Amino acid sequence: MQKKKIAVLFGGCSSEHEVSRVSAYSVIRNLPKEKYDIVRIGITRDGRWYLYNGPDDKIPGGEWERSEEKMPAFLCPDRSVGGIVANAPDGFRTVPVDCVFPVLHGRNGEDGTVQGLLELSGLPFVGCGTLASAVCMDKAITHSQLANAGIPSAKYLWFYSSKYTSEGAKKIKVKVNARLGYPVFVKPANSGSSVGISKVLREEELDAAVARAAAESDKILVEEAVAGQEVECAVLGNLDPKAAGAVGEIVASAEFYDYDDKYKSGKSKLNIPARLDEAVAAEIRSIAERAFRMLGCRGFARVDFFVRNGREILLNELNTIPGFTPISMYPKLWEASGVSYGELLDRLVRLAFDDGAKNFKK
Ligand SMILES: Nc1ncnc2c1ncn2[C@@H]1O[C@H](COP(=O)(O)OP(=O)(O)O)[C@@H](O)[C@H]1O
Ligand SMILES: [Mg+2]
Repeated sequence: MQKKKIAVLFGGCSSEHEVSRVSAYSVIRNLPKEKYDIVRIGITRDGRWYLYNGPDDKIPGGEWERSEEKMPAFLCPDRSVGGIVANAPDGFRTVPVDCVFPVLHGRNGEDGTVQGLLELSGLPFVGCGTLASAVCMDKAITHSQLANAGIPSAKYLWFYSSKYTSEGAKKIKVKVNARLGYPVFVKPANSGSSVGISKVLREEELDAAVARAAAESDKILVEEAVAGQEVECAVLGNLDPKAAGAVGEIVASAEFYDYDDKYKSGKSKLNIPARLDEAVAAEIRSIAERAFRMLGCRGFARVDFFVRNGREILLNELNTIPGFTPISMYPKLWEASGVSYGELLDRLVRLAFDDGAKNFKK
């Protein structure tokens, strides 16, 4: 059988650029080589696209950007091209691919933008389409969709940062007090990796937290702080998604699971399985599958929850391109269910080819 060509997209204009490089490096190394050839497309932090042909070990640290072994390239929306257009020294050339795996986290990659381009291109691609990606990226929209479906989440309110003037802030503070009470979490509505997120213990700290969030997004979310466990569920599939048998638990080493704790300090712990009654874990799996279906997700998503008092389940967020290093929660949960990292990647690519509903729409 002829090998399929998979374009792996990495980097991106996002606060999670570095994380994406590390995820993509392990995806590239572990995609089964007997079935797939890989085309590497790196996107710089300022949004330049390149076809990269150098060694893979220059990807995670970002050295690939200084390599000579690259040429400007872009994914072409023109369906007759069926892949990449590269600007080689001897002129433009097309590089057809069979499938695209966007290993991009956060804005301009996980938020529906790249997915829109992929839908236009008509190419099969791994993961959610434009709408589900965009809905899951915006935490305020996710909350309202969950509420419509009767899926519990933390109490919240949101506002545009431009409303947080001296007069506006007073009104917002009244609402925060009346509807949520302190402590609260203040977040940019559409960032990831905890960037711009603060835990606010009292009203005097709110202004600074809003300013931090506003640096990331013009839409600000305030949520009641949920005291309890933080657990994550790995969902895989298209129209009939299945959650991995084990639910995972994060035990943060910091005040909350912030950027350093996620990627730098190495001190946070993962418990697989989570310390939960099996009935609660089963309910979490069932809610995760329901949310995945209801929001129109495809391929994969990591669905994150809080559990209060060991039993009250609140959905926190869906990550439509979850962290994907071998030590990341998503692949680890599948491994605990007997699906190896390489097999998981193969299933994701096969799901992309199977997903007729997402692609080739006329
Ligand atoms: N309402 C909340 N209650 C308690 N902890 C929270 C709440 N919201 C966020 N956190 C903490 O902040 C971390 C990051 O928030 P999250 O909403 O998951 O954003 P991100 O998309 O950046 O991962 C969570 O993993 C959790 O530790
Ligand atoms: Mg999160």
